[in-house]
Amino acid sequence: MNTTSKKAYVYKGFERFWHWNQALLILLLALTGFEIHSSYNLFGYQTAVDLHNKAAWAFIILIIFAIFWHFTTGEWKQYIPTTKNLRAQAEFYLFGIFRNAPHPTKKTVISKLNPLQRLIYLGLKVMIIPVMVVSGLSYMFYRYPQDGRIAFINIDNLEIIALIHTFGAFILMAFVIAHLYLITTGHTVTSNLKAMITGWEELEDDQYEDTKKQE
Ligand code: HEM
Repeated sequence: MNTTSKKAYVYKGFERFWHWNQALLILLLALTGFEIHSSYNLFGYQTAVDLHNKAAWAFIILIIFAIFWHFTTGEWKQYIPTTKNLRAQAEFYLFGIFRNAPHPTKKTVISKLNPLQRLIYLGLKVMIIPVMVVSGLSYMFYRYPQDGRIAFINIDNLEIIALIHTFGAFILMAFVIAHLYLITTGHTVTSNLKAMITGWEELEDDQYEDTKKQE
């Protein structure tokens, strides 16, 4: 294909800050969480619990700022799901990619997530992460009632909470693995990663023009 490209500013400062801190916190939460789950011994149980609690609060603060940012900038619209090209995008990852087929959707500043990303990220934002926060907080306050006070929720059985929380942790880990692979499937192996570090990405000329038109 004989196309030229232009650089576009795709990921803004806060967005990159949020993305990388979220990534670090989720990894730390997973690392300490699975130690609490008794999968291995790394920090020592008590330190793992301590780190998990601190990371959880940091994660909650980050989520509050991210919600504010998404709504004040209008970037929440990036996550509106669409079925247009959803199948084509899934087929591309399953088959086309191995045959060097062209990407079925174009990335623009206005629409930087492909239909599959929109759906998966929205699912994370409205289901998995809220489930982790709510089950995690329930766990926290049920397991550690404050001195002399009764836990603010009354759960008969901690087991179901632990089960939901652990199930969510496995889903998040599956997401992270798929995400790491998909990062490498941009126009070059490192183009997606570089974009999330610098904010800038080379978009093909017509993609850039689309972006300009929509501005
Ligand atoms: C704001 C979010 C979160 C909160 C408030 C939270 C809170 C907690 C608490 C209080 C515990 C129990 C600690 C103990 O038994 O002493 C726990 C366990 C655990 N957490 Fe989280 N957590 C959060 C997010 C996450 C995330 C994102 C992951 C994984 C990616 C995760 C994975 C785990 C795992 C695997 C366990 C062990 C569950 C078990 O075996 O019972 N947590 N979490």
